[in-house]
Amino acid sequence: MKIKELANKYQSLLDTVITVSGWVLSVRTQKDLSFIKLNDGSDAVGVQLIVDGDLVVTLDKVNIGTSLTVTGLLVKSPASGQTHEIHVSNIKVHGYAPLEEYPLSKGKLPLDYLRNYPHFRARTSTFGSVFRIKSGISQATNKFYMEKGFRHINPNIITINECEGGAGVFQLTEHDISDHSKLPISTPNKHDWSRDHFEKPAYLTVSSQLSLEALACSLGAVYTTNKSFRSEHSLTSKHLSEFEHLEIEDIFITIDELMQVGEDYIKYVGQYLLDNHLDDINNLGKFVSKGLLERVKTIVETKFVRIKYSEAIDILKQATTLSKPVTWGEDLCSEYENYLTEHFKGPVFVSHWPISIKSFYMKQSDDKVTCENFDLLMPYKVGELIGGSMREDDLDKMLDIMKQKGVNPEPLQFYLDLRKFGTVPHGGFGLGLDRMCMLFTGMESIKDVVAFPVYYKNCTY
Ligand code: 4AD
Repeated sequence: MKIKELANKYQSLLDTVITVSGWVLSVRTQKDLSFIKLNDGSDAVGVQLIVDGDLVVTLDKVNIGTSLTVTGLLVKSPASGQTHEIHVSNIKVHGYAPLEEYPLSKGKLPLDYLRNYPHFRARTSTFGSVFRIKSGISQATNKFYMEKGFRHINPNIITINECEGGAGVFQLTEHDISDHSKLPISTPNKHDWSRDHFEKPAYLTVSSQLSLEALACSLGAVYTTNKSFRSEHSLTSKHLSEFEHLEIEDIFITIDELMQVGEDYIKYVGQYLLDNHLDDINNLGKFVSKGLLERVKTIVETKFVRIKYSEAIDILKQATTLSKPVTWGEDLCSEYENYLTEHFKGPVFVSHWPISIKSFYMKQSDDKVTCENFDLLMPYKVGELIGGSMREDDLDKMLDIMKQKGVNPEPLQFYLDLRKFGTVPHGGFGLGLDRMCMLFTGMESIKDVVAFPVYYKNCTY
């Protein structure tokens, strides 16, 4: 039986003999009595085992990390903080974990130490909760969009489009680039793409948006949970080279409605976690992420503020604590983002940014200087969680802006066709699911919410 299942229905199982399996989280032995905490990854706390009598000697080599199956009588626990425990009558050891060598043998360990052991860290109470919450986010995401009538489609990850010009792409080749002598070369120093896999340059996608737009312009509301890949040299606590990217796209929608979908979605996920992962939230709140429960409740209850970029700049200009002065037309750095979320004491949508610093696909506003886009800034040092916009649906304006921004129209013929044949107003957004997991677990580094994080200068598994 799974330990979570046992926790859910222990009352009906009291005074019966049950069998559970898992890994030892802790062992405490006093003379001829041992207390073992066992978890199988299904539960936030695990179950307490009581071993006594002759069985204690069989525990000789049983340490943290040992895998066991035990059978015993389920009884009410006299200890505070737990409802039930198992009086063990039989133990089967599957595998020992030698104390001197097992990296998790020392009990409470710092997060950055555990980063060296991603293949084991989910066995700890903290990371068990983090990854169960991540799974909950994924479940809530699908539930929310399915209930709203969105179709879940994961388009191509290998693409010939760069989408977000400045985001940096990983290029693909079928050749062994460590041996230059075998690479197809055309004119000196030029790779001959016609002799490569796709006969042209191809990349790992930085965003599925462009394909998703095409699907939306046939099916209506669609979403993807594809991975996106970025080669920018960012070593911050919020950037990965490979991240989980929730992207949505819908037709006949306005920018205000799009922001509302984003706000409703985040609150829905928060409420889902309160309803289904309260034990994991409380577990993290005890030591690692103090105040997590309050945070999740606040996110669910707070109205997200909406301001325009120009208003954000005015607020930042009046600030006296910033390290450098702000000018209209520049991007907002983390310091500015944090200032705005602190100023409004909560999440802030900043919309209508200067078109000059934004991507070619964003719809021009009537003022011709700004575009119909928005970023959602989150407090708790999470920063930008959503980037979205209405898409330019006028063919001539699209051609014009592509020209101004130096975007090559050749791989984008399909994209222009969408504007040429039956164009419709549409828009969407992208949200980093790993950053959302930071928000709802309180983990301060994105490396601690991804099972096997891949980031600049680090690809270990
Ligand atoms: O703002 P971004 O770059 O927007 C796009 O990619 C649009 N094409 C999305 C769309 O409209 N369909 O990225 C969207 C979100 C960011 O707000 C952030 O949460 C996350 O993706 N993100 C990253 N997460 C982790 N590591 C990175 N390197 C990320 N880059 C963006």
